[in-house]
Amino acid sequence: MTSSQFALFGHPVATSLSPQIHAAFAKQTGIAHEYRAIDAAPADFAMTLRSFSEGGGHGANITQPHKEAAFALCIEVTERAKRAGAVNTLTHKAGGWHGDNTDGSGLIRDLADRAGFDLRGRRTLLLGAGGAARGVAQALMDAGIVELVIVNRTDAKADSLADSLADPKRAHSRYWNDLAALGDFELIINATSAGRTGESLKLPSGLPSPRALAVDLSYGEVAIPFTAWARAHGVKHVRDGLGMLVEQAAGSFELWHGVRPETEAVYQALAAQRDRLNNGD
Ligand code: ATR
Repeated sequence: MTSSQFALFGHPVATSLSPQIHAAFAKQTGIAHEYRAIDAAPADFAMTLRSFSEGGGHGANITQPHKEAAFALCIEVTERAKRAGAVNTLTHKAGGWHGDNTDGSGLIRDLADRAGFDLRGRRTLLLGAGGAARGVAQALMDAGIVELVIVNRTDAKADSLADSLADPKRAHSRYWNDLAALGDFELIINATSAGRTGESLKLPSGLPSPRALAVDLSYGEVAIPFTAWARAHGVKHVRDGLGMLVEQAAGSFELWHGVRPETEAVYQALAAQRDRLNNGD
């Protein structure tokens, strides 16, 4: 294979850093890896994905709002994708799409391996119960957190995510309106898409514990409202989803090519780019 066809599907995708990350991986490994972003509205997603595979497309990353729709189009999915009910990585083989989800392992690699946080024993609050939350919930449980409290604007989706984790002693849902009565948390994860639509989350001030780590799964401007809220409420350790983005991309690259790229230099370059933008340079 001289040149492979890979793409990111989402809506919107114009500001995604994934093409830049995959170009860096291709350069570093010397693997031919042609990767572009394809914007597909929900109604066109299945058809656009089909034309992509008919045109020689071999692998796809899937971002919002298509992760659950992509899951439904797979002929086979991995166990972790099945648990999430959502896929972020598709590989075309044996006549159909095979789905996996590298989001959860990407988050844990960023928090534990890159940033050096010990997640074990942390009382954890997961805000949101959509595709992003589903992608990371099991990985958080596997990382040894002591409790996972899932809170979502639509209660039924939090209930269903908690049920799917099948560990009622550790993972359970609570009402958003009861947040102020839930005590404090050592890990707070924003997996909602509120930042994308410019809405602000209504969060009580007592949520972070003194040693809390707060993480927004998105990156760029979208992550700013939640990360700013966390800093304003005394959280010392605040991260956006940039490191997770790089790690999940490396996970996809490895699935497609059998080689895991080095991520640190790619992450550092993007973090410097982000910090320059945030400082208005
Ligand atoms: P993604 O793939 O990014 O997770 P999604 O599956 O559409 O996108 O999920 C979006 C999540 O953000 C949902 O949990 C959504 O809550 P609902 O299930 O009630 O829709 C949550 N969300 C979006 N806007 C929100 C807001 N303004 N306040 C609170 N939660 C919000």
